[in-house]
Amino acid sequence: MNDTVTFDQQHIWHPYSPTPAVMDPLPVASTTGVHLTLEDGRTLIDGMSSWWAACHGHGHPSLVAAAHRQIDTMSHIMFGGLTHRPAVDLAERLLRIAGEPLNRVFFCDSGSVSVEVAIKMALQYQRGKGHPERNRLITWRSGYHGDTFGPMSVCDPDGGMHSLWAGTLTEQIFAPAPPVRGTSVAQRHDYLRQVEELIDESVAAMIIEPVVQGAGGMRFHDHELVTGVRELCDRHGILFIADEIATGFGRTGDLLATRAAGVHADILCLGKALTGGFMSLAAVLATDEVASMIQKPEGGGALMHGPTFMANPLACAVATAALDLVEEGYWRETVPRIERELVRGLEPLRDLPGVADVRVLGAIGVVEMVHPVDMRAATEAAVAAGVWLRPFGRLIYTMPPFTATTEDVAEICTAVTAAAGARGAE
Ligand SMILES: Cc1ncc(COP(=O)(O)O)c(C=O)c1O
Repeated sequence: MNDTVTFDQQHIWHPYSPTPAVMDPLPVASTTGVHLTLEDGRTLIDGMSSWWAACHGHGHPSLVAAAHRQIDTMSHIMFGGLTHRPAVDLAERLLRIAGEPLNRVFFCDSGSVSVEVAIKMALQYQRGKGHPERNRLITWRSGYHGDTFGPMSVCDPDGGMHSLWAGTLTEQIFAPAPPVRGTSVAQRHDYLRQVEELIDESVAAMIIEPVVQGAGGMRFHDHELVTGVRELCDRHGILFIADEIATGFGRTGDLLATRAAGVHADILCLGKALTGGFMSLAAVLATDEVASMIQKPEGGGALMHGPTFMANPLACAVATAALDLVEEGYWRETVPRIERELVRGLEPLRDLPGVADVRVLGAIGVVEMVHPVDMRAATEAAVAAGVWLRPFGRLIYTMPPFTATTEDVAEICTAVTAAAGARGAE
């Protein structure tokens, strides 16, 4: 048998990497609970919940059981002209979690594709309303919405990949990044006024990550800004697209960031933790109003999207089991505890040389450095402390599974501290 890392390095691409990758990837043999077990037998705590997805830990027994039940019955069928119980069960739960007036569901393969679909929905909606000229989106800076072309066009134009794709990407409208948490009424008013001034007749929708901007900089903002965005959208006849792919299902301490802000989106994107990190699945929820405009001949008559693996029954069955855990609500106790423990463990890092900021929200802990992190040194320091972290840019951050114990969180904080103090991290 080939050595895993050698073959991998010769033939396989990893995210945002050349091939071979600059750093050898760590070979993982198995996962259980909060742990990754490496081929050499070492175990690491997954301090990233495998990029926000494995929120209930790895291999949760009820998700494993759901996968076994479903795979013995039906793994996949096309969704064109056919339907199945797992899709219906999942849609029912999603609509309950999202609440009125979100009443329609489109299932797709990944977060990026869900954002593509959301953009299509918004453009078709505006055409259906008789506004084909409304064909651009507005967003705020420091966002991240995925790596396919539609989502890339609304990612932060500086931190994202816009310079590589200049001339290829649709030119969208960018408001300044939202002010960070703790704004006054006057600051919020000023900021929202600046956003409003940018909304013209070409805008179909505003897309944002509510409350937490993830891969665009791990920035947190006040719920009231989300409420303000809803009001702006209503005033200008544009749709509000909430990308809750990272924030959905408890990560911020709330079921959904939009619901916590007391508003609903017209179009809501969900993914990542939807299947508890078992497999790739995303969903786009929309209101009846959006659906009815798309249905008009001017709107296209039908929503023009239909991936091969749409509503994959296996993924739907696992997602339903994951949402049962979400609805049972154990995380309503563990996430606030994890939040307190992250605050206690990470706040002291403020005094370390080279640390620019420390922030915690729900089960998200972020240490922002003054200078770019030496990724190799920081990752190796965390691994030596028994934790898997994946720093980027100036950020060392963690999103532990909601099942992490007090001891696990303490180990994670020790590892983040080691990573922040690693050579070259200043
Ligand atoms: C807010 C947000 N939107 C969209 C995406 C893209 O999702 P995916 O990687 O499943 O395509 C991500 C992934 O990190 C995300 O955090």
